[in-house]
Amino acid sequence: EAELYSLYKGVYVPHMVNPAEALQQYEEMSFRHDDVLIATYPKSGTTWMQELVCLIMSGGDPESVETSPNWVRVPWLETDHRIPLELRPSPRLLATHFSHRMMPQSFYQVKPKVIYVMRNPKDVCTSDYYFHIMSSFLVTPSSKRDFLHKFLEGKMIYGSWFDHVKSWLSAADTHRIMYICYEEMIEDLRGAVGRISKFLDKPLEQEVIEQIADRCVFDNMKKNNMSNYSTAPPEILDQSKGTFMRKGVAGDWKNFLTVAEAEHFDAVYEKEMKGVGHELYFHK
Ligand code: PPS
Repeated sequence: EAELYSLYKGVYVPHMVNPAEALQQYEEMSFRHDDVLIATYPKSGTTWMQELVCLIMSGGDPESVETSPNWVRVPWLETDHRIPLELRPSPRLLATHFSHRMMPQSFYQVKPKVIYVMRNPKDVCTSDYYFHIMSSFLVTPSSKRDFLHKFLEGKMIYGSWFDHVKSWLSAADTHRIMYICYEEMIEDLRGAVGRISKFLDKPLEQEVIEQIADRCVFDNMKKNNMSNYSTAPPEILDQSKGTFMRKGVAGDWKNFLTVAEAEHFDAVYEKEMKGVGHELYFHK
């Protein structure tokens, strides 16, 4: 782990994608009031939201999603940037895997808009396991069981799922944040597109909402080479070991965890999330 990860603000970060220079720039960056920041714990629906937000902001015009990779269109704050953030025109679309408490100084003053996407942590853990197998920049899990325990203990890149979710939920009253769950998007993608477009002050005709939703259902979005990571360099993803757009469903944890493991997971969830006042969709 020492070889692939470093510690930053108390959490592991993979230095291949978050090198020290990028983190330095991250700390010094300036937000703008009209920035739109997609914040997620890994494997919670980042790529999906990157696609949706691009299409919503363009009023349904697919040009950007067809011509530039998602990481160029909606760059992560904490990585190296091909186009410096300060040279990008407003409104900038940005992404981060960091928790609210890890944001740079400017975030708390400027208060950009944030879309925080959450997903059932049992599915996050499942998706993340397969992602670790195919990612050359992450430590390959020694076993499913070991990976599950690391996940529950928060010994993961970008920290604990529980801390991440609690950190962003705690900012509900002081920041402009829209919360949305992956499972809501699975269930009613058109409804989700409508909600996001309202939050972004981008009113859309019903027909455009439908077109965007149709483009972004798993089977269609999977075909977009600018969004399915098929063009990612081999030192990042080894495509012979898996597919980034893997299954795209809710509930695949049932094929990953044993009954006893799922029960243990739920017990840890109850303990960690005790006192969190927000009703989270996937737990209904
Ligand atoms: S990352 O690496 O953190 O940016 O990954 P992230 O994009 O957050 O999560 C990847 C999972 O999201 C699924 N995905 C989708 N599901 C449904 N519909 C669409 N359009 C979609 N796009 C991506 C992707 O398949 C990963 O989940 P799993 O469960 O592994 O299939």
